[in-house]
Amino acid sequence: MEKQVLFTIFGATGDLASRKLYPSLFRLFKRGELAENFAVIGTARRPWTDDYYREIVLASISSLSNDKRQAELFTNHFYYQSHDVSDSGHYATLKVLGEKLASQYQTRGNQIFFLAMAPRFFGNIAQHLKSEKVLTGKGFERIVIEKPFGESLSTATELNDSLRQVFDESQIFRIDHYLGKEMIQSVSAVRFANPIFEALWSNQYIDNIQITFAEAIGVEDRGGYYDGSGALKDMIQNHVLQVLSLLAMEKPVKFDGDSILAEKVKALQAIRKYSHEEAKESFIRGQYVSAKFDGQDFIGYRSEPKVAEDSRTETFVAGKFLIDNERWAGVPFYVRSGKRLTEKGTRINVVFKNESNPLFENVQQNVLTIYIQPTEGFSLTVNGKQAGSGFEIDPLRLAFRHDAEYFGNSPEAYETLFLDALNGNSMNFSHWEEAKRAWELIDVVREAWDSDSSELPEYPAGSMGPIASFKLLEKDGRSWNWKP
Ligand code: BG6
Repeated sequence: MEKQVLFTIFGATGDLASRKLYPSLFRLFKRGELAENFAVIGTARRPWTDDYYREIVLASISSLSNDKRQAELFTNHFYYQSHDVSDSGHYATLKVLGEKLASQYQTRGNQIFFLAMAPRFFGNIAQHLKSEKVLTGKGFERIVIEKPFGESLSTATELNDSLRQVFDESQIFRIDHYLGKEMIQSVSAVRFANPIFEALWSNQYIDNIQITFAEAIGVEDRGGYYDGSGALKDMIQNHVLQVLSLLAMEKPVKFDGDSILAEKVKALQAIRKYSHEEAKESFIRGQYVSAKFDGQDFIGYRSEPKVAEDSRTETFVAGKFLIDNERWAGVPFYVRSGKRLTEKGTRINVVFKNESNPLFENVQQNVLTIYIQPTEGFSLTVNGKQAGSGFEIDPLRLAFRHDAEYFGNSPEAYETLFLDALNGNSMNFSHWEEAKRAWELIDVVREAWDSDSSELPEYPAGSMGPIASFKLLEKDGRSWNWKP
């Protein structure tokens, strides 16, 4: 059914808006979720006109349609308002434009604010939306915000408090775009729709779980942001811990947002919070250095634009989380994420136990792999018999693995999340209790590293990270499971 809503996008001239937001809104338009009764106000400091703004939006969706008329019908819903987020007077102008568009497009007072800007502005914007009465209480009013949600527990708490003075938790949609990905959403299907896995999903049968978020790209043009963040805050605090909690949570009573949230929070609470000493033992970091890989010369991280020459920011993290509850006691969850690695690959490996086998030798551990991207699918390694005379065990792989396009309708993560926000469904968003616990766990690691002045481990661009990452598992008698 067609949605009735007015969107206001703060940061409308930015890269994120063009790369993700406009294309996702256009996809929803093509699907009929948005049709007549919607309008978009784009705001930012630059003095653009409506016409110029529409050209930018048109360019951002050019690869999604050959139908010029359809694209124009869509962009006609876009309006631009130059805006300084700390100038109260500008919110009055925004309110007048918003009210005009609300009646023109019959949006029933429903509003979604999308903050595609640095988090330091979030509190300020929210306060003004209230004080200048841009919020009217007539329809639903939701705020969608991008990561990072703070830089530590204390800054995240401040940020949250400032938002909560204006919006309640049910109105705040914190994006973690991994939660919009098709295969992340499939984790619950794998776990709870397959008795064969559900029955084995515990320390009785699982030896360890490995979560890898590998990227082939470097920091690109985001050195300014990334150098102040690093892989721990950029990936582990949010995406990786979200995925871990979906893997570790107990079965929710119902498959709805509140029930799932309750279980995810419990799982996160059960993750052991390390002392600084334990954190140093269980987490390692690294930074990429220049190397030739695949016939190409890659520069080192410290030579990237907007990165300090003596930067100690980690571009790679590997770590071990332990969960102190009945289901997971003794099962390490190994995680790793890094830039400029051998290939782009986001995967989960569930490695099953392999107790000594009285009948056969060479029995391999069964491994269930969930491929998140760039290919999507699953594989399961099982032991078979080698063809021919004699009796040798031969590990086989049952695989269902395809490019994302194979699934054809696989929607873009942002498209899924936008639609959820429109429907008021917060299941695939990050909630305060999750963000808070994640920061508690991550702050300890950060503090442990910050007090350690020893040399930062390096890894050559195009490798799978520093040696320390492999040693982390070796010392537990294990290794990373990574097959092409
Ligand atoms: C973002 C990080 O949240 O996720 C980036 O800030 C990272 O550093 C990106 O590159 C990875 O997302 P995806 O969807 O390309 O795997």
